[in-house]
Parts: sequence; C-alpha cells; structure tokens
Amino acid sequence: MGRDVFYITTPIYYANDVPHIGHAYNAVNTDFIARYHRLRGDRVFHLTGTDEHGLKVARAAEAQGLSPQQWVDQMDVRWREVWARLDIGYDDYIRTTERRHYEAVAKILQAVRDNGRGDIYLGHYEGLYCVPCEAYYVEADLLDGSLCPVHERPVESFREDNYFFRLSAYADRLLEHYDAHPEAVQPETRRNEVLSLIRGGLQDFSISRTTFDWGVPLPWDETHVTYVWFDALTNYITAAGYASDQTRFAQLWPANIHSIGKDILRFHAVYWPAMLMAAGVEPPTQVWAHGYLTVGGKKMSKTNLTGIHPFELVDHFGVDSYRYFWIRQISWGSDGDFSWEAMVERHNADLANGLGNLASRVLAMLGSYFDGVVPSAALEGCEADLPSVISDAAERYDAHMLAVELQSAVVTVWSIVDRLNGYLVEKEPWKTAKDPDRRPELASVLFAAAESLRILAVLIQPIMPAAAERLWDQLGLPGTAAEQRVPEAVAWGQIEPGTVTHKGESLFPRLEA
Ligand code: MSP
Repeated sequence: MGRDVFYITTPIYYANDVPHIGHAYNAVNTDFIARYHRLRGDRVFHLTGTDEHGLKVARAAEAQGLSPQQWVDQMDVRWREVWARLDIGYDDYIRTTERRHYEAVAKILQAVRDNGRGDIYLGHYEGLYCVPCEAYYVEADLLDGSLCPVHERPVESFREDNYFFRLSAYADRLLEHYDAHPEAVQPETRRNEVLSLIRGGLQDFSISRTTFDWGVPLPWDETHVTYVWFDALTNYITAAGYASDQTRFAQLWPANIHSIGKDILRFHAVYWPAMLMAAGVEPPTQVWAHGYLTVGGKKMSKTNLTGIHPFELVDHFGVDSYRYFWIRQISWGSDGDFSWEAMVERHNADLANGLGNLASRVLAMLGSYFDGVVPSAALEGCEADLPSVISDAAERYDAHMLAVELQSAVVTVWSIVDRLNGYLVEKEPWKTAKDPDRRPELASVLFAAAESLRILAVLIQPIMPAAAERLWDQLGLPGTAAEQRVPEAVAWGQIEPGTVTHKGESLFPRLEA
C-alpha cells in the first residue's frame, strides 16, 4: 500500500433528500472493499457522510419551510438509519456543516490563494447553471440547446461576481500525473474520458457564490460562500486531519480509493487533483467510477415512481440478500438495471438454493449422524480436491479484490459453493450413513464439508457480514467471522473435531416469485 492505512471513501451524498438504491449501490460496494481489506489485516479507514451546503439543499429546505440547518439535521437521521441497516461499517461520518470541515475548507482555500501563482482571482460570471448538478454548463453541452445533459431539465441563467480557480493552468500537470499513474482513474473507459476532457481544454471555474449564503464563507471575503463542489471535495482531507492533525494526515493521505459514480468523475478526476496540486497536497491514489443504475430501464426519479428507498427492498429480501444482489448482479464499472424479478431470481438461485441449502444440508447431516458434533477426519484423502479448490479460489478472490473486480470476486467464492455441492453428490453421505461399517468415511466427508463451510463463512463476511456470523454461529465456532484474517483463516483443517454445531434457521429462506 505504500502507507499505513487503506483509506477509502464514498462520495458525500446530497442532504436535499433521503437515500435511494443508487446511493446505496455505491455504499454497499465500497463497504465490501473496506471489509475485505480489514479481513486481510489492513488498517482501514472508510469514510462516508453528507454534502449539506449549496443551492440544491437550500432550496429543498425552503420548500419545506425549514432553515437549511433544520433540514439537514432531519436528513442526517434518514441517511444514517439506512447505513446502519445495510451494515455499512464506516469508520468516520462527515457532515460538511461540521466545524472541523469549515476549518479545512478555509485552510485549503487560503493555501491555494497564497501559492504565489494567482490561482484564485476575482471575476465575473454569466452562465447556464443546473442546480441538481450544482454546476455551470456551456451551451454546446446542453441537450436541445436548453436541457442539462445529466438531469434533462432546463438550466437556469445566472450572473454573479465570483472568485475563480485557475483550473486552466493545471492541464499539463494533470496529464503528467495521469501519464505517470495510469491506475489513478479506473476503469479504463473513465480514464480515457478524463484524458480527453483535459486535452479538450480546461476552463477556470468559479469557487464562490454571493446570491445565497448557505455555505462556508471565504476566509478573506465573508460576503462570499464557497462553491459547493470546492467545499464538498475537501471533505476527504478534512476527515484525514488536514487542518487538525498533521501526523494523522501523513498516515492517511493520499486516499487509496475514492469510490464514486461516473456522473461525478469530472469533479473528482479533474477539479480535485488540480485543487490539491494548487494547495501543495498530493492527489488521491485512485478514483474508481462505477456505473449508473436504472429501474426498469429508466432513470430513477420521484416523479415516475422509480426512486426506490433501500428499505423497500431490505424489508422483503433482508440485508444480506440486498448486499449480495448489488455486488453480484452488476459488474462494478458498468451500468445496470434493477428489476424485482432479477432480485428474486438471484436470491433463490444463489442464496436460498445455493449457499443456504448447502449449509442446511450439511448441518442437518451432522445433526442426524453425529448429534451435531463435528467428527474427526479418520480416513485420509476423503476431502478429495476441496482443500486445493478452496485455496486456489481464495487466492483468486484476493487478486480480484485488489484489482477492484468485485463481481468476479463473488463469482469466485461461489465456485466453492458449487464444488462443495458437487462433492456431496459424489460422496453421497446419506447413503454411506446407512452402512455402519462406513462410519469413518462418513465422518471424514462431513468433517470436510463442515470445514469448507467454515472457510466460506470467512470469505463471505465482507459481502454479507450478518449471514457470515449466523453461519459461524451455527457451526459452533469460537469468536466471530469478522475477527478472522486471511490468508491464515482459510488454511485447510482448522475446525476442531468435537465442535458442537446446530442447524438453526435457514440462512436465506426461499422467496416466492
Ligand atoms: N454531493 C455530491 C458528491 C460530492 S463528493 C465530494 C453528489 N451527491 S449525490 O447524492 O447526488 O450522489 C452521490 C453518489 O450517488 C454519486 O456517486 C452518484 O454517482 C451516486 N448515485 C446517485 N444516483 C445513482 C444511480 N442511479 N446509480 C448509481 N449511482 C448513483 O453527487
């Protein structure tokens, strides 16, 4: 890693509204990466939070007859309750209205202004603004000459005196940076998009607003508040201690991965590194842009009833199936579509009939043939190729996770489920059990099956932390699945004969279509 801590971030979500499954898509996959790194024994710092300033939030508050602060305080509860229920194990939660953040924004602004290159200057802006994007557009970018290309709704004409950031001066340095660090924007298609944006020429952007006051005041001119994107991006260094703790900052920064959606790539891969360069701070190591979710093929929105709150699905599928679906269904980096049918299908095929059924069969056989007690493997060789299949899969899993190939990582774990199912079909322990002379063979096969389940519980922990603990518990194992470490915990042969298992409730009850 080249530093002490694996630092991974989600974007900070706009507090103008409650979460929908598009936001949670980012949160779940990012949490999977963070948890996997913890499982490897890395020190992890997973940051998330909310973006609470700007016109979009101010207008949402106004529409409710509340002050922006009252509104974001209400929204705060609504965001955190979702992350709690989805088992999002963040290490820090930042709100841009916090004092620590004001201090960091003031510090970076001052550092850029004082860098001796005139990177912040006063100017005048007239342009076309999209409030949902919190960004200006030039006419050539618009759909039909008047609609925002992202939100497909009319832009507004704004004019103000603003301070500007001299982004145009950073094109060469950005290109050099991306040339030296090809991995700094992923996937490859996004990297190419960023390179062509930069090569196409960069325009300075305004970093302050005077037409409303819901934001961080500029340290040298309090009649201006900081542009919401300049404010928001800074959250990543606020939480790392930029303005509060230099030792900590040196350990955490630069962040290993900014996990974001492709719609906010320009801000993260062009504005942000340039802002940092101007302030004399290293750019992030990697920006990883995932795809966009649609529902029934349509963009999610309140008006066409496709803005699905995560609880609508979690209530039905449970948190583990919810997390599994989003990680397994869509390749991280590609766009994807949600449909209820696809989610039921995945749940039943991979979880209820797959891992869940496998676990309950093995536990039931341990119960019927050995009173639930794990027997010793009396006969050599009965485990067949299970140890090598598992160690090979665990290695590939690790490689996929380090390459942020999340879907392939899960598929790799399920290759163990398939192999263990095949193993049971070959060994037919239910037949062996009928012959008292074949007890040693029966014991050896069930030992191997129980041991494989133990390893599966470790490997699924970052994907489905709650299900992993249920399985761990049913296997009667000491401690928790979460405190295991790879590769040690996936080495073959660790379940102790004599361990008392219990079948318990099925891990993933089958759902009706
Ligand atoms: N506040 C900014 C980010 C500032 S980060 C310094 C913002 N917020 S957002 O709430 O609009 O979006 C947060 C994240 O959710 C983004 O990564 C965005 O890509 C993601 N998604 C929002 N809708 C989405 C889908 N329909 N599909 C996938 N991800 C989506 O942008």
